[in-house]
Amino acid sequence: MKFMYICLEGIDGSGKSTQIELLEKWLKEMGHTVEKVVEPTSSPVGILIREMLQEPQATDSHFQKVLALLFAADRMLLMDKIQQEESQNKIIISDRCFYSSMVYQSPSSWINEINKYIRKPDLVLLLDIDVDTAVSRCQGQDQFEKKSFLKEVRSKYLEIAKKHDFFVINANTGINMVHKNIKKVVAPHLGICDTGIL
Ligand code: TYD
Repeated sequence: MKFMYICLEGIDGSGKSTQIELLEKWLKEMGHTVEKVVEPTSSPVGILIREMLQEPQATDSHFQKVLALLFAADRMLLMDKIQQEESQNKIIISDRCFYSSMVYQSPSSWINEINKYIRKPDLVLLLDIDVDTAVSRCQGQDQFEKKSFLKEVRSKYLEIAKKHDFFVINANTGINMVHKNIKKVVAPHLGICDTGIL
């Protein structure tokens, strides 16, 4: 068994949380030791971020800069855990990572700079979904779940997906099909031979 850091990315409402649960269950069935992480984390910085995301000015430019710094700090706190899991050859599946900051915050050169000590995942899967469907699933009231904002975020995701070799999964196809397509991408990277996914 070898260590691997896998991340699922996507706009709010793309179904990441559901798919991460299913991926975790399947990887465990396949005999892997899996650790799930979520960004923002439950660290004091992560808790502060979640509070700030509820503010009406959350998408304002200056506020976004503050959030970018906090996201980078929260992520830095996560790095110790990732190192530990690596030494134990566990598989990490992460709900969001550095690339969320690249698409939700800006400018990208600065985001890169403040995240330069952050480890990048080995494998990124982007759940790409139609913005209307995503918005209809969002229950929260935060500014990040507004349609115009999510439209911009989605196109930034698709832009960086090419540059960083993400695997883009069509997330409009229903839970089972999305899960199957995620398994098809992940299996060869972990040497999993599961006939159920063919
Ligand atoms: P989300 O995965 O939507 O959590 P929940 O399902 O609990 O709402 O993440 C919370 C929000 O944080 C989401 O709107 C995206 C945002 N975010 C950033 O803006 N930058 C980042 O670097 C990260 C990790 C998240």
